[in-house]
Amino acid sequence: MLSTSSGIPETAVPAIRVEALAPEYRAAAAALADSLKLPLEGKAGFALQLGERGLQLVELADGAPGPIRVDFVSGQAAYRRHRGGGSRQMLAKAAGLRSGVRPFILDATAGLGRDAFVLAGLGCALTLVERHAIVAALLEDGWRRAHDHPKTAPVMACMRLIREDAIALMRAWRDIPPQVIYLDPMFPSRTETARAKKEMRLFRSLAGDDGDAPALLEAALALASHRVFVKRPRKAPPIAGLMPKYTLEGQSNRFDIYPKKSLAEK
Ligand SMILES: C[S@@+](CC[C@H](N)C(=O)[O-])C[C@H]1O[C@@H](n2cnc3c(N)ncnc32)[C@H](O)[C@@H]1O
Repeated sequence: MLSTSSGIPETAVPAIRVEALAPEYRAAAAALADSLKLPLEGKAGFALQLGERGLQLVELADGAPGPIRVDFVSGQAAYRRHRGGGSRQMLAKAAGLRSGVRPFILDATAGLGRDAFVLAGLGCALTLVERHAIVAALLEDGWRRAHDHPKTAPVMACMRLIREDAIALMRAWRDIPPQVIYLDPMFPSRTETARAKKEMRLFRSLAGDDGDAPALLEAALALASHRVFVKRPRKAPPIAGLMPKYTLEGQSNRFDIYPKKSLAEK
């Protein structure tokens, strides 16, 4: 489940209202509005809507893309889980997965949890950290629905969610360090796919680009026991100009790998 913290940073959030899509969701919408300190009516650029399919975020402007919701049970996430190439896919290799190696991973920029879901589906235990309250609410909603579904419940059991700023969390970490830390901060890019573009556009309107990625990388490198890996647009410079030991390149993205020691070692 999602644990909240008072450490959520203030971000420039465009006006968002919460809406119930049917009368039976009014009470839940009111509770959500109260917890996120958002209005239930009035002029807004975005609506966080609660209905029978769960929670979704939609931009209200004419010609805006369709709603965004987290769905681990069907659609793209399920397809990627079954057909995504298992531990041979680039994300899994970047995380260091190989036969008999399933590290504990801290996903410090969880977003909508897509990458974490793939890694959990491959048998890794993950802690997901998301600092933006609305993104975290969408993620928590998707987690809850998938947790209630027999197909995805075992995967959800491997994913723990924390709503907090990962830089502060990692700097104050007192537990056993995560073996691997994954970073996928937002970056202004023109090479995203249509689906990613829709999401990125909404994310950027909500949270802006992640200008503090250098501090995130610094904290991750100080904490991870075995490796840090970072998703970047293929042509983007490495975070803070810090050259990785090696990279894995895909069509539009690449992973920068900063190994500290072999995952075969304790
Ligand atoms: C590009 S999205 C990540 C997408 C994610 N990999 C996925 O598969 O859905 C980046 C997310 O990281 C979050 N983020 C950036 N910096 C963060 C930080 N310091 N702490 C927690 N979350 C952070 C942003 O709010 C945003 O939701």
